[in-house]
Amino acid sequence: MSVASAPAAAAGQGGSVPRHVAIIMDGNGRWAKRRLLPRIAGHRKGIEAAKAVVRAAGDLGIEVLTLYAFSTENWRRPADEVSDLMGLLRKFIVDDIDELAANGVRLRIIGDYQALKPDLVKLIDDAMARTASNSRTTLVIALNYGSQAEIARAARQLAAKVSGSGMSLDAITPEAIEAELYTADIPAPDLVIRTSGEQRLSNFLLWQAAYAELMFVDTLWPDFGKAELAAAISGFGERERRFGGL
Ligand code: FPP
Repeated sequence: MSVASAPAAAAGQGGSVPRHVAIIMDGNGRWAKRRLLPRIAGHRKGIEAAKAVVRAAGDLGIEVLTLYAFSTENWRRPADEVSDLMGLLRKFIVDDIDELAANGVRLRIIGDYQALKPDLVKLIDDAMARTASNSRTTLVIALNYGSQAEIARAARQLAAKVSGSGMSLDAITPEAIEAELYTADIPAPDLVIRTSGEQRLSNFLLWQAAYAELMFVDTLWPDFGKAELAAAISGFGERERRFGGL
């Protein structure tokens, strides 16, 4: 991915569309607060924004769209909010899988989603299986995802290969680490967008975003839609990516 895929990703230069856009969807709570609504109302509207952006990604020719839906740190939120978020996610999968499937969207999950409730895990597994052969857009949802935990997991898997199957230490290369990440078969993100004015990566795709363009926009996530995505892509087209070269 990172260095290995740099030449392919460099094709994103010169006004073309990024292959992979990853988004930190932030600002649902503030959107609701400004309207004197409960936070869940912001998350509900956030799901609508996510759906609009998935549709727009297909229209704009983006191959992979990754959305950061729930981080390993989000468990620190009040239990009610965690349960609301899981409920919305469940509803999204149940209500929208038909539209995703009909529109050529392949659903992938990154993160330890298997630690979620068994019924939700089953819904997710069924939705992934049902859309596995779709190829228009890959929608990657980061769920119970944290980049540091992902890298630690990759390290454990490599350590097991060293101690169990005689993998040599010299074989622990960046490519070998990448092959153990959740994103092993997904191209590295070309563009990472964070909404709501915050300028942090918050443990999102830290390895994979090594050469990504970062874009921080003030729009709160529920107000982000096709026009905002198109504007971000046009901004991306104006960036000069050098991947460490000149
Ligand atoms: C940030 O808002 C958003 C999240 C914690 C993620 C929730 C995302 C959604 C409900 C959309 C989910 C989309 C899919 C496809 C499942 P915040 O609560 O941190 O906002 P704040 O910083 O203003 O409080």
